[in-house]
Amino acid sequence: MQTGLMHLHNLLRWIILILLVLSVLQAYAGWTGKKAFKAGDKKTWLFTMIAAHTTLLLGLYQVMFGRYGFFVTTLPEGMSMMKDKFYRFYWLEHPTTMILAIVFITLGYGMSKKQVTDEIKYKKAFMYFLVALLLILAGVPWQFREIVGRPYFPGM
Ligand code: HEM
Repeated sequence: MQTGLMHLHNLLRWIILILLVLSVLQAYAGWTGKKAFKAGDKKTWLFTMIAAHTTLLLGLYQVMFGRYGFFVTTLPEGMSMMKDKFYRFYWLEHPTTMILAIVFITLGYGMSKKQVTDEIKYKKAFMYFLVALLLILAGVPWQFREIVGRPYFPGM
């Protein structure tokens, strides 16, 4: 089960990225094109948020009980988490960056329900989604990253 959940966590990254890029583009087009807010846009933003929150739950499980979860891992005597690139990344940097990104995704979706003009809705949502996208791009353990890098797809 543990492996399956991690594979799901890995794969959801692509779903989030596709939906998030779409959300950024829709919000940008709505804002700059001064369009009326569309129900279809709200749906994309909602799916983006659902995918992000699901990944968050899986991530919380990984960081607590996963292969290197802090409840199941004992660091060698004298080793500091902050001085170890691997554990610092998976216990601190990755979770913090991603939780922040998910907060921004949630704020972006929240704009669809705000009582403001459609232009402001789109503009603010665009900014929130863009920040979330940049945070995710920076915080994912891409395969090319040293020490912390992970495969682009499970089992690769
Ligand atoms: C948008 C949100 C997130 C994305 C896109 C994402 C992406 C990823 C990816 C691609 C991996 C590599 C998986 C593999 O080895 O196959 C990973 C691993 C991991 N993620 Fe996330 N993650 C997200 C959020 C989180 C959060 C919020 C946490 C913790 C609170 C978290 C904790 C972890 C941990 C602990 C691992 C290592 C698991 C292991 O190797 O046993 N992730 N994440």
